[in-house]
Formats: sequence, structure tokens, C-alpha cells
Amino acid sequence: MEVHAFLFSGNQYLLLLLLLLLIIPSMPHPATSAVPVDNSTDLSSLLAFKASTSDASGLIAANWTTDASFCTWIGVGCSLRRPRVVSLNLSSFSLQGTISPQLSNLSVLSSLDLSNNSLSGTIPDTLGGLPRLATLLLGRNLLSGPIPRSIFNMSSLVSIVLSSNNLSSSLPTRVLLPRIQDISVTDNLLAGHIPADLARCSTLQRILLGGNQLTGSVPSSLGNLSELVDLSLGENQINGAIPASIGNLTKLRLLSLAFNDLEGEIPQEMGNLVNLQELYLHKNGIAGSIPISLWNASKMVMLSVSANNLTGPVPATLGNSMQFLQILRMAENALSGGLDFIASLTNCRKLEVTTNHFEGVLLDAYGNLSTNLQYFHVSDNNIKGRIPTGLGNLSSLISLALSVNELRGTIPTTLWRLKKLQVMYLGKNKLTGPIPSDIGLMTRLSRISLGENELSGQLPDSMGNISGLQVFDAPVNKLSSTIPLSIWSLQALITLNLYQNRLEGLLSPQITKLKAVDYIDLWSNRLSGDISSALGEIQSITYLDLSNNSFHGQIPQQLGRLSSVKYLNLSHNFLSGVIPKSFSTLSYVTSLDLSFNMLEGEIPEGKVFSNVSITSLVGNRALCGAPKLQFPPCPANVMTSNSSTKLRLLKYVLPSVASVLVFLACFVSL
Ligand SMILES: *[C@@H]1O[C@H](CO)[C@@H](O)[C@H](O)[C@H]1NC(C)=O
Ligand SMILES: *[C@@H]1O[C@H](CO)[C@@H](O)[C@H](O)[C@H]1NC(C)=O
Ligand SMILES: *[C@@H]1O[C@H](CO)[C@@H](O)[C@H](O)[C@H]1NC(C)=O
Ligand SMILES: *[C@@H]1O[C@H](CO)[C@@H](O)[C@H](O)[C@H]1NC(C)=O
Ligand SMILES: *[C@@H]1O[C@H](CO)[C@@H](O)[C@H](O)[C@H]1NC(C)=O
Ligand SMILES: *[C@@H]1O[C@H](CO)[C@@H](O)[C@H](O)[C@H]1NC(C)=O
Ligand SMILES: *[C@@H]1O[C@H](CO)[C@@H](O)[C@H](O)[C@H]1NC(C)=O
Ligand SMILES: *[C@@H]1O[C@H](CO)[C@@H](O)[C@H](O)[C@H]1NC(C)=O
Ligand SMILES: *[C@@H]1O[C@H](CO)[C@@H](O)[C@H](O)[C@H]1NC(C)=O
Ligand SMILES: *[C@@H]1O[C@H](CO)[C@@H](O)[C@H](O)[C@H]1NC(C)=O
Ligand SMILES: *[C@@H]1O[C@H](CO)[C@@H](O)[C@H](O)[C@H]1NC(C)=O
Ligand SMILES: *[C@@H]1O[C@H](CO)[C@@H](O)[C@H](O)[C@H]1NC(C)=O
Repeated sequence: MEVHAFLFSGNQYLLLLLLLLLIIPSMPHPATSAVPVDNSTDLSSLLAFKASTSDASGLIAANWTTDASFCTWIGVGCSLRRPRVVSLNLSSFSLQGTISPQLSNLSVLSSLDLSNNSLSGTIPDTLGGLPRLATLLLGRNLLSGPIPRSIFNMSSLVSIVLSSNNLSSSLPTRVLLPRIQDISVTDNLLAGHIPADLARCSTLQRILLGGNQLTGSVPSSLGNLSELVDLSLGENQINGAIPASIGNLTKLRLLSLAFNDLEGEIPQEMGNLVNLQELYLHKNGIAGSIPISLWNASKMVMLSVSANNLTGPVPATLGNSMQFLQILRMAENALSGGLDFIASLTNCRKLEVTTNHFEGVLLDAYGNLSTNLQYFHVSDNNIKGRIPTGLGNLSSLISLALSVNELRGTIPTTLWRLKKLQVMYLGKNKLTGPIPSDIGLMTRLSRISLGENELSGQLPDSMGNISGLQVFDAPVNKLSSTIPLSIWSLQALITLNLYQNRLEGLLSPQITKLKAVDYIDLWSNRLSGDISSALGEIQSITYLDLSNNSFHGQIPQQLGRLSSVKYLNLSHNFLSGVIPKSFSTLSYVTSLDLSFNMLEGEIPEGKVFSNVSITSLVGNRALCGAPKLQFPPCPANVMTSNSSTKLRLLKYVLPSVASVLVFLACFVSL
């Protein structure tokens, strides 16, 4: 009975509901009776959006007025048949504020582009309810919070770009996007794993997840995405090995796994990626050799595998198989064998194989490489022989790095034909002979590094023509001449590093013409004469080492004006007189060394000298004061009575001289 009654009352409700459904559509709309419900909903959605944002230029405030149909509003696109909003594009409008959840009432919206604004807050969960949305572009904003789960369950979505925001949390494990082609969430704060479920989106052509904090491994299921063209997972914390299934992505054009924690070897199967144009694997822990078949990827333009643990040789015919290769980066690995492959790289613009175990000689034939070659970096290998004169034919070269090898012989004069060269690193080889005076023809040079060779002869006067020179680094050679005055006219010079040479003569007061200089190291040369008081005018300098030379005379009072100096070393010269009182005002000095000169008199008080250790003052003639450092008190303070002066002097001076001697003995025996 009871059951029957229940069913009956249920039927009654159903009838009521049916009646209601029939009546409602015919009821007049309360506010705008003439307008169908859906177009007023669009209007109120847009007005809600307008209310939640502001644009700096006031364009939307002025344009989005109810005087005109919203279909004429800037950024709004309507369907051809009805006044319904199908697209909203306010990209690069300098919009601030939040994304109104009411946007989800634009029920026929198919494209929403709000990229490149300053929108903040979260992405409304309701957007996932837009039944026709195909394009959702919210990249380059200040959006935060998680990506709503609802967005990964939209049957119409084709393209979603949320890159360059502050989105956090993880990607959902469940992904249901049957039409999706393009997913980009690069440069956010996303954590967690890469969803293996992405593999179910068989229409995917592009997955860009780089620049997040993703962990875990690369799901092998991604190998099922046969339409995939671009896969970028770089700059995350992805670990494990590269799955062999990647080799099934034969349409792949771009693969980036750089800046992760990948280990293991590059799978042989990757040799199947015949359409690959860009491969980035740098900064991982990938070991083993590069599969032979991968060297055959004939469309490769950009190959970057630097900073891994790769071993093995590079095929000599590389350039024949990779005919379009423009950039080859293999630095910081353990690659070995010959460098013959270089001669085959006729289209290469940038070649970087620094810090490997390549051996052999540089061939003259490299001069026949593409005239497009701009970067030739083979530093830190086991290269022997001479620098080939042919390199002078590489007329587009901007950067040449041959340092840390075993190159011998002279620097070829042909190099000075490289008129575009900006960087020349030849340091740490066994080069001999002079620095050719033609160096002055390379007027674009900004960095020259020749240190730790066996170069001899003069510093060429012509260097003064290299007006943009910022770094001149040639320490530990046998250069023997005066420093040409033209060097001081290099207005852009920041670093002058010539320690351990045989440079002689005076340090010209013209040194003050170096207006930008930060670092001067002339330690251990044969410079002599006075230290020019003009040095005090080089306000920019932070590092000055003139030690182990033959400077004499007094330390100029003006050195106290070197207000930025942090490191000042004048030790092991023949400087005499007193330490200028002005030194007590040097406020940034963290290291000061005046030891082993002929200085005398009172050690000034002040910040510098309260931090300085006794080692920086030992070996002088007669310094006094600074009781903390156990120097004797100065005579002026001691002279209480004439008779006791000598006694006191003996009493104080002798022990301290003795202690210095003991100290020195310890120092020497160390
Ligand atoms: C709003 O901007 C559109 C497109 O620039 C323009 O056609 C329309 O006339 C403007 N409407 C108003 C009210 O300014
Ligand atoms: C709403 O639609 C009606 C006709 O269907 C049209 O006359 C009116 O201009 C539309 N309103 C807006 C704001 O576009
Ligand atoms: C939005 O407008 C910009 C600038 O006019 C354009 O570059 C972009 O392709 C548009 N977005 C969409 C989804 O059509
Ligand atoms: C982004 O918007 C700014 C103006 O807010 C514009 O100057 C810039 O060109 C836009 N960038 C892109 C990539 O559209
Ligand atoms: C529009 O959407 C909001 C939130 O999504 C909802 O609360 C509201 O009822 C909707 N408005 C209309 C007119 O449909
Ligand atoms: C996906 O959306 C459909 C409706 O569009 C809903 O029925 C289903 O429960 C959703 N699935 C998930 C996993 O959220
Ligand atoms: C993005 O997030 C970081 C870390 O949570 C925070 O420091 C930063 O202020 C945020 N930036 C914006 C624009 O919200
Ligand atoms: C790839 O797809 C096949 C069927 O199309 C399925 O059997 C297999 O499990 C998928 N592999 C992965 C790793 O998801
Ligand atoms: C590649 O695809 C083939 C055929 O679809 C399949 O048999 C094979 O297991 C896949 N290889 C990998 C490594 O997933
Ligand atoms: C290379 O291998 C060595 C020894 O196996 C290891 O110590 C080192 O961390 C590895 N380097 C990288 C970049 O993974
Ligand atoms: C690479 O290509 C060459 C011809 O260009 C071919 O002889 C060789 O067998 C190929 N090697 C591999 C491993 O596919
Ligand atoms: C460089 O090429 C020219 C002409 O193509 C040729 O005559 C010359 O022998 C080549 N030089 C070297 C060192 O291979």
C-alpha cells in the first residue's frame, strides 16, 4: 500500500514538472521582453568581465558601452547568423584584474584570447563548462593557483596555452581532450608528474611543459602520440631514462629534454626520428655514446647535447648526413676521437665542442668551412700542432676559442683578417713568438685572452686601435717591453691582466684615461719608478695589484681616493715613507697588502687597519702603532722622558722585531 501511494505521488510531481516546462518559455522576460534570453546573457557576461578588469588606456571602458550592440565592441566577435559572442580577443590590452567566472555564460564561445595582459587571480573552474570552446589562450599573465581540472575534460578544446603565468599545483592524472592538438603550460610553477594519460589525446601535435618543477620520468606512453611534432619538457626536474618509445614519434620535429636530471643512454630507437630538426638534451646526466643512426638525422638543424656524460667518437662524415646543421653544441662531455668531422660541416654557424677529449690537429681545410661560421669553440681538448693559417678565411667568425689545448708555434698573421672577431681565446697553450702588431686591425675585438703561453716580445702599440676592447688578458707569458701609452687610451677597458711577464718601465699617469677599468693586475713584472698620484683618479677600480715590481718613492696620498677598491696590493716593492693617512678612509677594502717595502711611521687607524692582519704589514722598515698587531707604539706616544726613550724603544721594538722574525721563519718553513 505504502509503496503504491509513493509511486502515485511521484507521478503527480512528474506531471507538475512537465507543465512547468511547457509554461516557462512562453513567459515574458522580466527586463528586456523583446530580446531572446541568450543574447542578454551574453551582454551581462561581457559586462561582468568589464567590471572585473581595467585597462590602462581606458579603451574598453570607452568602447564597451550599451549604446551599441556588443557585436561592435572591440575584441568581441559574433556569430554571422545571430548576435551571439563566438570569440573574445583582448590580447595585449594591458588588462588588469581577474577573469570573471561569468565568462562561462558565453555559451557559444569558441575562442578566448586574453594573452599578454596582467590578469591575476585564478582561472575560473567554470570555463571548463564552455561546450564549444576550441581555443583558450591565457599565456603571459599573472594568473596563479591550480589549472582547473574541468579544463582537461572539454570535448571541443583544440588549443590551450597557459604559458608564462604563476600557475601551481600539478597536472591532472585524468585527461579527456579528444580534439586537442596543442597544450602549452611552459614557464609556470607546476609540480608533480607528467600525466601518462596525455597519451590518450591521440590528436596532440604539440606538448610544451618546459620551465616548471615537474618530477618523475617521461611516460613511455607518450610514444603512442603518433601525430606529435613538438615535444618540449626542458627545464624541469624530470629523471629516469629517455623511454625507447620516443623513437616511435616519427613526425617529431622538435624534442627538448634539456635542463633535467635524465640518466641512462640515448635509446637506439631515436635514430628513427628522421624528421627531427631540433634536439636539445643539454644539462642532464646522459651517458653512453650517441647512437650511430641518430647521426643520420638528415633534417637536423640544431643539435645540442652539451653538459652530459656522453662518450665515443663523432663520425667524420657528420656534415654529409646532417647537411642542414647550423648549430652543433657538444661541450662538456667525454667525447673522443678526431675532429675531422669539422671539415664536413659546411653550413654550420655555431660549433661548440669545448671540454671533451677530442684529439688531433686543426686542419688548414677548416678555412674552407662555411663562410657562415660565427662561433668556433674547441677549447679544452687535446689538440696539438699549430693554429692553421686557413682559419683566417673564416670571414664571418665572431668568436674563436682554442684555449686549454697543446697548440704550438706562433699566432698566424692571417688571423688578423677576421675583421668581425669579437672574442679571441688562445690562452693555456704553448704558443710562442710575439703578439703580431696587426692585432690592431681587429677593431671589433672586445675580449682577448692569451694567458699562460710562451709569448714574448713587445705589447704592440697598435692595440690602441681596438677601441671597444674590454678584456685584455695575457698573464704568465714572457712579454718584455714597456706598456705602450696607447693601451691607456682604451676607454672601454674593464680588465687588464698582465701578471707574471717581464714588462718594464714606468706606469704612466695616462692610466687615468681608463674610465671604465675595474681590474688591473700587473703583479710580478719589472715596472719601476714612482706610483703616480694620478692612479687615485681611477674611481671605478675594485682590484689593483702592483706587487712584486720595483716601484719606489712614496705611496701617494691620493690612493686614499680609490673609493671602490676592494683589493689593493702594493707589496714587494721599494716603497718608502709613511702609509698615507688617507688610507684610513678606504671603506670597501677587504684585502690590503703593503708588506715587504721600506715603509715607516705610524700605521693609520681606521676601518681598513682594524681588519688587516700582520702579514700585510710585515717586512717594512719601521712601522709603529696598531698595538693589536703587536707593532711598537710610535715614538711620539712613548717619549715621556728622554732618558727612558732608548730603553723603551729597546723594550718594545726588540720583542716585536723578534716576533716578526719568528713569524717569518714560520711562514718560510710553511
Ligand atoms: C569600438 O571599437 C570598434 C573597433 O575599433 C569600433 O568599430 C566601434 O565603433 C567602437 N565603438 C565605440 C562606441 O567607440
Ligand atoms: C540582441 O538580439 C536582438 C535581435 O535578436 C538585437 O536586435 C539586439 O541588438 C541584440 N543585442 C545586442 C546587445 O547585440
Ligand atoms: C587576437 O588578436 C591578436 C592581435 O590582433 C592576434 O595576433 C591573435 O592571433 C588573435 N587571437 C586569436 C585567437 O585569433
Ligand atoms: C604584449 O603587450 C605589450 C603591451 O602591453 C606589447 O608592447 C607587446 O608587444 C605584447 N607582446 C606580444 C608578444 O604580443
Ligand atoms: C552566469 O554564471 C554565473 C557563474 O558562473 C552564475 O552564477 C549566473 O547565474 C550566470 N548568469 C546568468 C544570467 O546565466
Ligand atoms: C567530464 O565531463 C563530462 C561532461 O562533460 C562529465 O560527465 C564527466 O564526469 C567528466 N569527467 C571527469 C573525469 O571529470
Ligand atoms: C609567483 O610566485 C612566486 C612564488 O610563489 C612569488 O614569489 C611571485 O611573487 C609570484 N608572482 C606573481 C606575479 O604573482
Ligand atoms: C599505446 O596504444 C596501444 C593501442 O593503441 C595500447 O595497447 C598501449 O597500451 C599504448 N601504450 C602505452 C604505453 O600507453
Ligand atoms: C612502436 O610502435 C610499434 C608499432 O606501433 C610497436 O610495436 C612498438 O612496441 C613501439 N615501440 C615502442 C618502443 O614503444
Ligand atoms: C658523469 O659520470 C661521473 C662518473 O660516473 C659522475 O660522477 C658525474 O656526476 C656524471 N656527470 C653528470 C653531468 O652526470
Ligand atoms: C647512415 O646513412 C648512410 C648514408 O647516408 C648509410 O650508408 C648508413 O647505413 C646510415 N647509417 C645508419 C646507422 O642508418
Ligand atoms: C679549399 O677550397 C679551395 C677551392 O674550393 C681548394 O682549391 C683548396 O684546395 C681547399 N683547401 C683546402 C685546404 O682544402
